[in-house]
Amino acid sequence: DPPPARLPADWEAWEAVLDEAIAESLQLGDKPGITPAEMSRSESWRQRVRELPVIPILGLIRSETNLRRAHLVLAWTMHFYIHSLPPDVPVIVPAPVTIPLFQLCTHLQLPPVVTYADTVLYNWTLKTPSNRPTPALDNLQSRTLFTGTNDEQVFYLTSARMELRGVEALELMRSTMDEAFVGDDIAMRRITTFLARLATVIDDLQTLLAGVRDGCDPNTFYTAIRPWFRGADSDPAKRRWEFEGMDSDPSWTYPAELSGPSAGQSSLVHALDMFLGVDEFSHAPTLTGASSAQAQQTKKSAFLTRMQLYMPRHHRNFLNHLAANPRPLRAIVAGANDEKLLDAYNAAVGALKRFRDYHIQIVTSYIIQPARKAKAESEAAAGTGKEPLKGTGGTDLAKFLKAVRDRTAAAVIESE
Ligand code: HEM
Ligand code: ALA
Repeated sequence: DPPPARLPADWEAWEAVLDEAIAESLQLGDKPGITPAEMSRSESWRQRVRELPVIPILGLIRSETNLRRAHLVLAWTMHFYIHSLPPDVPVIVPAPVTIPLFQLCTHLQLPPVVTYADTVLYNWTLKTPSNRPTPALDNLQSRTLFTGTNDEQVFYLTSARMELRGVEALELMRSTMDEAFVGDDIAMRRITTFLARLATVIDDLQTLLAGVRDGCDPNTFYTAIRPWFRGADSDPAKRRWEFEGMDSDPSWTYPAELSGPSAGQSSLVHALDMFLGVDEFSHAPTLTGASSAQAQQTKKSAFLTRMQLYMPRHHRNFLNHLAANPRPLRAIVAGANDEKLLDAYNAAVGALKRFRDYHIQIVTSYIIQPARKAKAESEAAAGTGKEPLKGTGGTDLAKFLKAVRDRTAAAVIESE
């Protein structure tokens, strides 16, 4: 079912300020050529946020879906608030946002920032009503947008469609793990079939990713949409985000990190990695049951470990479950001396490698090229330094994405 569209009446004031932010089409505070009228409209909206009552969340905690909706509403409001500020004004998140948001975060085990779940997983509805158990890929629309552009919607729905298509990947992983437990010849035949199907699903994910080009313009994405995602670690003015009201609960501590939303927070591709055994440990010479499961737990990439903190907690639990798998697929394939199984495994790894190659092409069009252009245009203005380009998830993106791609390629098992 689609996530709830609106919180119950007691929290209507939150929904109302978010509606107003959208209705007023708030502009980025550092938008070149922002007009005084735009600036004063955004200041009066921020004033209304500061004047909100501090609404208790107690009545929300019985409903997981309402808690998630509340996180979405307050986190989006916070991003509207911060990124509409002029760049020379300190960032102080007002108490009526901080206090309930921190409370929600304790319940949901999520950080107080817009996450992938807030832009994609909890932010969709059906275009036309339908009673299909899973929605058709072309029957989705986004609910909340920073810019109101179709480009932004296409950006979110590209991920949403991939998540939907990914359901079959998760089913295939589960079936494979069940068969691996049985472990006889028939089970190996079945796993071979599952892996062949998995390769097809991964190819479909690549096709769906390509769909972002159909409606999301790279320059619009880079200049108008992406700046709204910035977390505390990518503020161009390097301001610290202060949370007014944080001292009202002695158990709250300042968040250790606040990255912006990234599809790196999706559990799907990381689940594929863990399942196929793509990681630093894939170079380990021996891959026997328990020790490799331990290796997965201890050596999984720092980025994944970090991004898991931004995932809904049941996704996090699922990944931990995969990591603890006592019969890792890669070890089974490597030890089976079964050509067909090996080919099917390598085909799935190959598909994931091609997916990542293609993702790098997308990142080149949507970030690297527009950034180059922006830099060339402002060259005269400021010596913007030689800092590497960062993703919204905080990585040194070119280096990072190539390393992950190469690690995927390295997971291929050579036949003897
Ligand atoms: C990572 C950009 C679409 C899946 C990243 C990173 C960047 C990026 C810069 C590096 C991590 C960071 O610091 O944020 C983009 C752009 C996209 C796009 C510009 C579209 C215009 C998608 C979609 C998915 C996806 C739709 C699939 C749901 C991933 C994954 C990672 C990642 C899984 C982690 C690295 C990896 O496992 O290879 N993306 N991305 N991306 N992205 Fe995307
Ligand atoms: N992670 C993507 C970026 O860096 C959204 O733009």
